[in-house]
Amino acid sequence: MATEYDLIILNGIVVTATDVEELDIAIRDEKVIKVVPRGSLNDSTAAKTIDAQGGYVMPGGVDAHVHLDEPALFGKGCAADDYETGSRSAACGGTTTMITFAPQTKTEDSLLNTLRATHAKATDACYIDYSFHLLVSNPSSTALSEFKILREEGISSLKIYMTYEALQLHDGQILDVLLEARKQEITTMVHAENGRVIDWMTAQLENRKMFEPKYHATSHPPMAEIEATYRAISLSEFIDVPILIVHVSTPAAAQHIKQAQDRGLPIYAETCPQYLFLTKKDLDQPGFEGAKCVCSPPPRESEQDHEGIWNGLANGTFTILSSDHCPFRYEDNVKGKKTCITNEYPVGHFKYIPNGCPGIETRLALAMSAERLDLKKFVELTSTNPAKLYGLWPRKGGILEGESDADINIWYPPGQMKEYSLRNEMLHHNVDYTPYEGRMMKQWPRYTILRGELIWDKENGGLLGKKGKGKFVKRGASSLAASRNPGDWKIPL
Ligand SMILES: *[C@@H]1O[C@H](CO)[C@@H](O)[C@H](O)[C@H]1NC(C)=O
Ligand SMILES: *[C@@H]1O[C@H](CO)[C@@H](O)[C@H](O)[C@H]1NC(C)=O
Repeated sequence: MATEYDLIILNGIVVTATDVEELDIAIRDEKVIKVVPRGSLNDSTAAKTIDAQGGYVMPGGVDAHVHLDEPALFGKGCAADDYETGSRSAACGGTTTMITFAPQTKTEDSLLNTLRATHAKATDACYIDYSFHLLVSNPSSTALSEFKILREEGISSLKIYMTYEALQLHDGQILDVLLEARKQEITTMVHAENGRVIDWMTAQLENRKMFEPKYHATSHPPMAEIEATYRAISLSEFIDVPILIVHVSTPAAAQHIKQAQDRGLPIYAETCPQYLFLTKKDLDQPGFEGAKCVCSPPPRESEQDHEGIWNGLANGTFTILSSDHCPFRYEDNVKGKKTCITNEYPVGHFKYIPNGCPGIETRLALAMSAERLDLKKFVELTSTNPAKLYGLWPRKGGILEGESDADINIWYPPGQMKEYSLRNEMLHHNVDYTPYEGRMMKQWPRYTILRGELIWDKENGGLLGKKGKGKFVKRGASSLAASRNPGDWKIPL
């Protein structure tokens, strides 16, 4: 007898951004077909049944900030994860869609070459679905003229930097990008730190022979982020175009964002686990250990900063919670953190430490284990809003009958999992450490489903997904609010 469904999920508590309900789910041909009151599928036939045993059933995680297989943009260091290992790690942590960066270099005129090269890296390599943000470091006339083609290719977001010599745009270049992004309904992500301020602080520290990893935090003062955030908001308001400020670390920067939102501006914001769980003390470790937590912006002063960021997550200032997975191996002096240890700098030099921390696999479990967010808010921040903001909704980020891909994450029933200490050996990335080593955790995804296929079963086999099963997903325009006055931008007189 033919079965009605490929998969049914029974006895779960389905959590979406809007509801928490006891519902059963039926899946066929990669899609969610039915979401019905518990018990309604008792008499159905399915090729496979999962009993959620009262665990939370959520849309699969969407991680919209992931660096994989990137070249050495800062002279030293090379991403430790490629599309295979990065997406594998994502799958094991409950993430079913990732948006990674396709980085244009300063010497490249075109964005389409960059897009093509990144497709080549990802094709047939991924365990989960994926798309790319184009990272624009050279907004040449060629690059600007290609925004329209990017949209046709299913790319509806870009990222720009206000810091890092290899990537930084000046304000005029930022306006060039924003104006063209407005025309093509593209969302621009902004790394908001003042590059000149950071260079100046770095020189001050070098003059005083202060090179240890902890000085990375000193060299990136909160002021550099606060100023650049306010400037990015101002530039966005001038062009009247939506932006997303990535990896906000400072409550004072979040406050600028909140005030802009309260004025009705389409300003969106992202934060990451490193700004909820790490402080600058994590950079001040014996020897070179602190380098493990070097990322930009750096983890901030104290728990008080964490409180401000948690508050912003709860009160809607932050639109999304992403990982900013940016993996470098620690014990590696060719591509990893230790490339900056030389005869001249035996303790390393903070300015040359490859910037970034791994986190694609731990993002969801860390936030769930913290038990700080309302469940619906958790889903909104980690799945629904990234899908909406970046043009994937309702295919991704929800559990909508007939509309959503069957990308689902099932957690352990509340209280069933014994508290445990996180260890890097539990993870599936190609990195030899996690910044969260030893942290006490209360949850981990038990099952993860990608378009109806079980790709992670923690108790039975762990990783079940297959390399190459993840597909490129074409994205449309953002479904969150865009320019306030659509149409041509008018020169303000
Ligand atoms: C479905 O099956 C469960 C377990 O056998 C039972 O407790 C429940 O009452 C049934 N629900 C319906 C609507 O038949
Ligand atoms: C919401 O969070 C932001 C960011 O931390 C903060 O500036 C703002 O005061 C908060 N608003 C309320 C009403 O709590």
